[in-house]
Amino acid sequence: MSRLRDASIRGLFVTGTDTDVGKTILTAAITAALRAEGLNVGVWKPVQSGARLGSGLTDSERLLQITGIDERPEAVAPFSFEAPLTPLLAAKQEGVTLTLTELIDAGIPLTKRYDTLLIEGAGGVAVPLTNDNLMVDLISELRIPTLIIARSSLGTINHTLLTVSFLRNCGVQITGIILNDSEWSEPLDDPSIASNAELIEQYSGLKVLGRFPRLHADSHSEMWIHTVRQTIQLGPIREALADQKLSHIGG
Ligand SMILES: Nc1ncnc2c1ncn2[C@@H]1O[C@H](COP(=O)(O)OP(=O)(O)OP(=O)(O)O)[C@@H](O)[C@H]1O
Ligand SMILES: [Mg+2]
Repeated sequence: MSRLRDASIRGLFVTGTDTDVGKTILTAAITAALRAEGLNVGVWKPVQSGARLGSGLTDSERLLQITGIDERPEAVAPFSFEAPLTPLLAAKQEGVTLTLTELIDAGIPLTKRYDTLLIEGAGGVAVPLTNDNLMVDLISELRIPTLIIARSSLGTINHTLLTVSFLRNCGVQITGIILNDSEWSEPLDDPSIASNAELIEQYSGLKVLGRFPRLHADSHSEMWIHTVRQTIQLGPIREALADQKLSHIGG
């Protein structure tokens, strides 16, 4: 067993079929809903790129803003790079070579403060992360289940089934899929939306846990929590988190 696997990081890895599909929004909204039930859930973004910490635009700042968690953004996202590039290249531009060991070690302090974490990836599962590893290798090293965020509109069946297949080939467990109305285009105009969830379930054998509507980006926590409760089945997510707690207690 590798040293990394002794890290015992508990949580759910929130990945997506692409960049900009709504991982940050759903990670934050679900975390806020679980915290409102009294669960001590934290957030972790192992690596982020594309904005300056302190600008208010980074994912770690958005995660803290929506969840209301009192943490420093740099504790939530220990590796943060400004260039709007894939993490591997954004890090290289600042002279940093990422390794899986360092990425995981940087998340350990959060495990002391929270019972479990919702962990947001960057982009999708085949995003280059280190010289030898893709995002999926980080997920599989953490040995935690994933939640897939996909857009709700045309094209999502292909992207979602490819993501499912890639995760399964790498031995990663999938808790479910959430469809998000993330695009600027008006989703009501898209006739594929009604059937996408059903077809994804049929061909993947996984549950689509809900379809999250588009809200005003500056909605406050209560609105995100209310909308999660209205639209997302949280049962399988709670169970995935509780199962890990039991298996860790059981050794
Ligand atoms: N349901 C929604 N309601 C309102 N705005 C949304 C919704 N989903 C996504 N957005 C907006 O769309 C943009 C992309 O969403 P988000 O940042 O969550 O994507 P992401 O998958 O986390 O992207 P990245 O790969 O960069 O981390 C953001 O500006 C976000 O505020
Ligand atoms: Mg994000």
